Formats: sequence, structure tokens, C-alpha cells
Amino acid sequence: MHLGTQKNDLLGLDGVDPDTLTALLDAAEARVPMAEGVEPAPATLAGRLVANFFFEDSTRTRCSFAAAAQRLGANVVNLAGEGSSMSKGETLADTARNIAAMGVDTIVMRHAASGAALLVARAVDIPVINAGDGRHEHPTQGLLDILTLRRRLGSIRGRTIGIVGDIANSRVARSALFGLTTLGAKVILVGPPTLVGAAFTRIGAGPAMVRVEHDLDAVLPELDAVMMLRIQLERAAGGAIAADYRQLYGLSPDRMERLPAHALVMHPGPLNRGIEIDSAVADHTSRSVILAQVAMGVAVRMAVLEWALRG
Ligand code: CP
Repeated sequence: MHLGTQKNDLLGLDGVDPDTLTALLDAAEARVPMAEGVEPAPATLAGRLVANFFFEDSTRTRCSFAAAAQRLGANVVNLAGEGSSMSKGETLADTARNIAAMGVDTIVMRHAASGAALLVARAVDIPVINAGDGRHEHPTQGLLDILTLRRRLGSIRGRTIGIVGDIANSRVARSALFGLTTLGAKVILVGPPTLVGAAFTRIGAGPAMVRVEHDLDAVLPELDAVMMLRIQLERAAGGAIAADYRQLYGLSPDRMERLPAHALVMHPGPLNRGIEIDSAVADHTSRSVILAQVAMGVAVRMAVLEWALRG
């Protein structure tokens, strides 16, 4: 799936059809009690080996893939850029081929370069799961965001979801946009013109489902959920952000009150508290679903690993 290979790679949500998305979400839903440790999980991946390739830092994605694999009885081997033979000039493709030659069953991969997961997927004959590649996609984040919304709102079709902030540099925004619009939600992308241009209405389902706005206060009353994005200082967005970013686009308690009473607050993490989101909002007991998103990440990754390895 998505694509360019005949294996069960998951490289992005762009082009994934609604039935496949729904099947993955349903499979993840069934795994929630097991991901939370409330019920024992079946050892469906016993004897399988998952390689966690993280060439860029991660807390949530790396740990939840490891937790998901281990809950299902698989073992995990870890490889980071630092300490690998890539420091001696070995290419990413050769590194992946060597790991695959050790009998690994799937590669979960994060990399700073957009397209790195596709490159590795073409180099090996085992499934590759993109755990975030540059500005391109972060498909399991998109799935966990949608699963969180579906559980809290009851449905995705007809909902309006705001994604706010550094859209230009955000793989999270792209995967959420593709998945949400495929399932019938409207997405409003909000941010300064330097970080979200009108061209974004031409990706995914197009202008019928995607809007670009620059005035957050005007948009908030329309939303069923608002997804605040992290300002990605490591992708050089910091230089493009005016000093008044927080004043214009930060989610403060006053701004949160402009949302409809049922609307949810989301953030993929890690948080820049006091920049894109205030602590009083991030930690709000009824509005914020930020830690619920993290919990759904384990269930989604259990479902994705089973799909990749078992079909
Ligand atoms: N949301 C997310 O991808 O977090 P990590 O960078 O910690 O994995």
C-alpha cells in the first residue's frame, strides 16, 4: 500500500482508499483494550522480528512501535543513525539490505529526509512502515489522530477539523489531511501565510474538502476539533515565525472558549508549551485528548504491524 512496491508497506495515507483506512481503524479499535493492558493480547507476531530504524529523535513513535510489537509477541531490534556504520559512509539502502539479510520481518523507519521510507521500501523485500519522513508523511500518526477523533466524536464524515501552525513543515498535517478528507471530514488549515499557502487546497481531496485560513479566532467556532502543531524549530521554521506567533496562533484558555462546547483539543507532541499551546489548554481535563492520542498510538501500531506482517 502506498506504493511503488508489491508488499504491505505503509508509506503514507495519500491514496489509501476509505475501506482500507476503515479496516485499519477497526482493527486498531479491537486492539485498544490490549494496548492499554486491560486484556491480554494474542501472540499473533510470536517469532517475528521488527527492526526499529530511527535516524531522527522520537519518544512516542519509537516506544509505541516497540510496545505494540512486544504486546503481540514480536521481538524488536533497534538501530539509530548514531552508532551505526552509516558514520563510515554506508548508504541508507545498503544499511536496510544488511538488516533485512539478518532475517528481520519488517522495518519501521523514521528519517529526516522526505522519501527515505520509499527508498528503503524499494531496497528490501520486507514490508516498510514509515514512522515519519521529513516533511512528507507520518501515516501511523494520522491513523491514531483519526481513531481518537472517531472514538470521541462518534464519526468522521461531516466533521470539521482545524489543523493549526507550521503546515509547510508538517508530515503530521499531511497524513491527517489525507486520511480525514478520504473519510469525509473537512479540514481547515490555519497559520501565517509563510507556513500555509493557498496551494495546500490543491492536495488531497481538493478545495471542496480543504480550506486555508489565516485568522484562527474566526475559524475556532466552526470546529469539531483543533489540532495544534508543534513549531518545528529543527526544520528551520523558527526563522520564518514572527515574534507575535503565540499571540496570533497560540491556543490560550481564552481562545479555547471560542470553540464549540463539544470540540476537542489535539496535539501530536512534543509540546512547545507557551508557544503553540498553553499548559492550561494542553492539560485541560475535558477538552484535551493529547494523552488519549498517545494511547491510541499503541493500538494503531499493533494493527499496522499485524497488517504488514500477516495481511
Ligand atoms: N508525534 C510524534 O511523532 O512524536 P515523537 O516525535 O516523539 O515520535
